[in-house]
Amino acid sequence: MCGIVGYVGEREAVPVLIKGLEHLEYRGYDSAGIACLSHDRSKFFMIKEKGKLAELKAQLNGVPPQMRLGIGHTRWATHGEPSKINAHPHLGRDSRIALVHNGIVENYAELKSELERKGHRFKSKTDTEVAAHLIEYYYRGDLCEALRKAVRRMKGFFAFVAISHDEPNRLFACKRSNPLVIGVGHNEHFVASDVSALLPYTKRVIYLDDDELVELTPDSVRVTQLQKGTKIQKKVSEINWNVEQAQKGGFPHFMLKEIYEQPRVLSETILERIDDKGNIHFELLPKSTVKKLQKIKKIHIVSCGTAYHAGLVANYMMGKYVRLPIEATVSSEFRYEDPIVGPGDLVVLITQSGETADTLAALRLAKEKKALTLAIVNVVGSTIAREADLVIYTQAGPEIGVASTKAYIAQLGTLALFTFYLARLRKTIASQEYRELIGEFRKLPKSAEQVLKQVDDIDRCARKHFHRKNFLYLGRGYNYPTALEGALKLKEISYAHAHGYAAGEMKHGPIALIDEEQLVICIAPQSKTYDKMISNIEEIKARNGLVMAIGTYGSKALSKLADYLFLIPNTPEIFSPILSVITLQVFAYKIAVLNHRDVDQPRNLAKSVTVE
Ligand code: G6P
Repeated sequence: MCGIVGYVGEREAVPVLIKGLEHLEYRGYDSAGIACLSHDRSKFFMIKEKGKLAELKAQLNGVPPQMRLGIGHTRWATHGEPSKINAHPHLGRDSRIALVHNGIVENYAELKSELERKGHRFKSKTDTEVAAHLIEYYYRGDLCEALRKAVRRMKGFFAFVAISHDEPNRLFACKRSNPLVIGVGHNEHFVASDVSALLPYTKRVIYLDDDELVELTPDSVRVTQLQKGTKIQKKVSEINWNVEQAQKGGFPHFMLKEIYEQPRVLSETILERIDDKGNIHFELLPKSTVKKLQKIKKIHIVSCGTAYHAGLVANYMMGKYVRLPIEATVSSEFRYEDPIVGPGDLVVLITQSGETADTLAALRLAKEKKALTLAIVNVVGSTIAREADLVIYTQAGPEIGVASTKAYIAQLGTLALFTFYLARLRKTIASQEYRELIGEFRKLPKSAEQVLKQVDDIDRCARKHFHRKNFLYLGRGYNYPTALEGALKLKEISYAHAHGYAAGEMKHGPIALIDEEQLVICIAPQSKTYDKMISNIEEIKARNGLVMAIGTYGSKALSKLADYLFLIPNTPEIFSPILSVITLQVFAYKIAVLNHRDVDQPRNLAKSVTVE
């Protein structure tokens, strides 16, 4: 949460910072601000605005030229309401340093009182302003030293980027838990919360690890250990994402573009990893892990939000084909509930960003308990990808819309692939069944395209129901998580109440909601529980409820009962969540647009939740 960016080099800093913030705005949009050092070094040039980046951009007329050093921030409020005063950057007492921050200084109240006793006065309610004062308090002309001393006093986690009035050619950054990546250019350097902000300028990056501090000048990068100051050699990595992937490409919203990208994502995630003989290859799984994976006794799947729903689907996938005890848990529960995890267990962390605070803490806990850890991650080089024992990238490309769509599909595809890989390794799947499933797997990108052909019909349905405030989603088995995900998509971006339920539980509560006003979205593709879903739908219709159903081509009973029917091509049950969720994503998108919601940046949400 919160996006931070910094620049030092030969270009005008302001446009670089603004473009960087545009790419980071999905991380928070409560306020935005920049601080640059003016060419005459008389004082910081600083502007901040409440609300989205557009508000800040509207204030940019008359920016003085020749500012080659600067920092920027887009905020998701933790301490202090969204306001101009609480917006970053924050300055020290004598305005000698400017600071942007992503994270939480947990002992800020204590530090604030201490500084107040020394005569410091604070304008904002933020922990960051306290950090800025503390850093400046220790500042004696060397910002590296001041950061080291100040950070020693702080509890919590942070990514800081700072500039000093007295060091006009230097940009400083350090981190603990929250991400920072350095962009390496020619006579210029960048720093940002993630690579998307760097893509317009460079594909050469250095990932900063925890407790590292970097000092950047236009032509040098110096990384040292944050506490001890010892020099650290870092590797430069090449990013294979491109700028176009992070742009809307003619679509009105990133979310819609990302929904339409799903067939391609399925090909890139799945098909490229299956060779002509039907063998599955994960490029980053070393051969040495095969034995370990053969011996695992239990699988834990840990994740948050949409990725948690992918974990629930994996529970069904691996339960059926890998035949091991398996448990999917949300990261925030896993990390605090003393889970029974140990050597011989595999802990799978699913995460789009690779930075979610609770999932990162869960990973660290699993490692402490000596479990084997596998990260299924989208963002290359993210903290979770780097810290896990094993990593499989989902290869969805940059996902900008806050509501996750293509990353979810990529997670499901990757998890299915990993399920088959494990099942084969552990000999829990017959060769014939494996071959058939791989054959069906290859059809998924085309089938996803078929599903997307119904967008206009989904739109017509949405137009009839966009005013509703309550939606109920029902599914069974593999598609119980689809019901949860469909409901989550709708509430995230339309702000209507939507509830996902296991259809078998309908009689234990939700049935009381049903009358002629209630729209029930039933996910009922061909499966072993198809008939049970039909019975549920009969019960809804008997009470005059309205039914929007998702079924498989040729499902006669469903077509007779449903008020609205959307179809997916025939596919084995394990793949049905991949196809059926697409209709629900489009439905949520249409409802949100009809309600004039901010689809890509829904209120109060952030794409990357780097605080608990
Ligand atoms: C936030 C995002 C969701 C995402 C969840 C987990 O809530 O808005 O889209 O599913 O975090 O994020 P992760 O990056 O770990 O998948």
